[in-house]
Amino acid sequence: DVRKGKFIMDYEERITAAELGSGEEKSEITLRPQKLDDYIGQKKATDNLKIFIEAAKLRNEPLDHVLFYGPPGLGKTTLAGIISNEMGVDIRITSGPAIERAGDLAAILTNLNENDVLFIDEIHRLNRSVEEVLYSAMEDFALDIIIGKGPSARSIRLDIAKFTLIGATTRAGSLSAPLRDRFGVSCKFEMYTTDELKSIIERSAKLLNVQVDEGSLEEMAKRSRGTPRVANRMLKRVRDFSQVKGSGVIDMDITRRALDALGVDDMGLESLDREILKMIIERFGGGPVGIDTIAASIGEERVTIEDVYEPYLIQAGFLHRTQKGRVVSNMAYKHLGIENPSEDEIEENEQVSMDMPE
Ligand code: ADE
Repeated sequence: DVRKGKFIMDYEERITAAELGSGEEKSEITLRPQKLDDYIGQKKATDNLKIFIEAAKLRNEPLDHVLFYGPPGLGKTTLAGIISNEMGVDIRITSGPAIERAGDLAAILTNLNENDVLFIDEIHRLNRSVEEVLYSAMEDFALDIIIGKGPSARSIRLDIAKFTLIGATTRAGSLSAPLRDRFGVSCKFEMYTTDELKSIIERSAKLLNVQVDEGSLEEMAKRSRGTPRVANRMLKRVRDFSQVKGSGVIDMDITRRALDALGVDDMGLESLDREILKMIIERFGGGPVGIDTIAASIGEERVTIEDVYEPYLIQAGFLHRTQKGRVVSNMAYKHLGIENPSEDEIEENEQVSMDMPE
């Protein structure tokens, strides 16, 4: 069932709130760039990959196995698709949780053609027995299969096509050392700058055939939490507002109205982000508080908080991660319009020390 140039999705809708709902998956694919030259940002990763792809093609070999890590929505799947296009091979897309048994993986691997790309999203969630099959596949392009049971059981080695594994994870630290060591290339995905997001939104607006003025581009980019997936989704929702309530052109007035209606504030925080910060302030005096306590108080999964909400809260400076737990910053108090009692203390202390003779 592997067709040229097609994304084949094995896994069901992803669990986290920041992931795409059904229906959006398809339309996002049409916004996804297909060539490296159209991919915006992640310059460090793409500059290197360009060389490795070129070299692999010259040698007529598969690209070495690649690990992508970083927060969700930053274009890991998109870049994997681009790599397969640039290599001129097929890509098979699956995810760690979707591969339940070693046999499932063996079936996928034996169906790959020479130099194909296998993309495994959430690769840190592979179970042990599956992961072990992957070791020999990655290293020797072979599967060790046990035939029979008990004393008559024997192992045979089955060769498979030389392929490239692209693994993606939100957390490089949860990968087992033997798996991590088998990737020849490792790329860290960074959050996008406002300028990069502006370019992405501008490009998507062209593809969606909608006009966006400069101010609105900037406004949406600033409120997209450094994440293209959020930016593209935002653009589509603002477009809805402009079609129904506005002139069809996206201007500042309609952008502000739409984002207000969506509950996205001027720093790009949504209601759950604000709820997290507020809860830490009101119930735990601003922290430090452990991640499990935060998760229980909000009624969200710990991984969702860690992978989806926290990265941006930390990156934007609202939250700090310390040894003892999460601590809300002064900036968060200011943003929420809540007085920070310990800030006064700090100011008083500073006052005191300033008054003290040297
Ligand atoms: N869509 C999602 N990620 C993108 C990127 N990095 N560049 C262009 N379009 C994108």
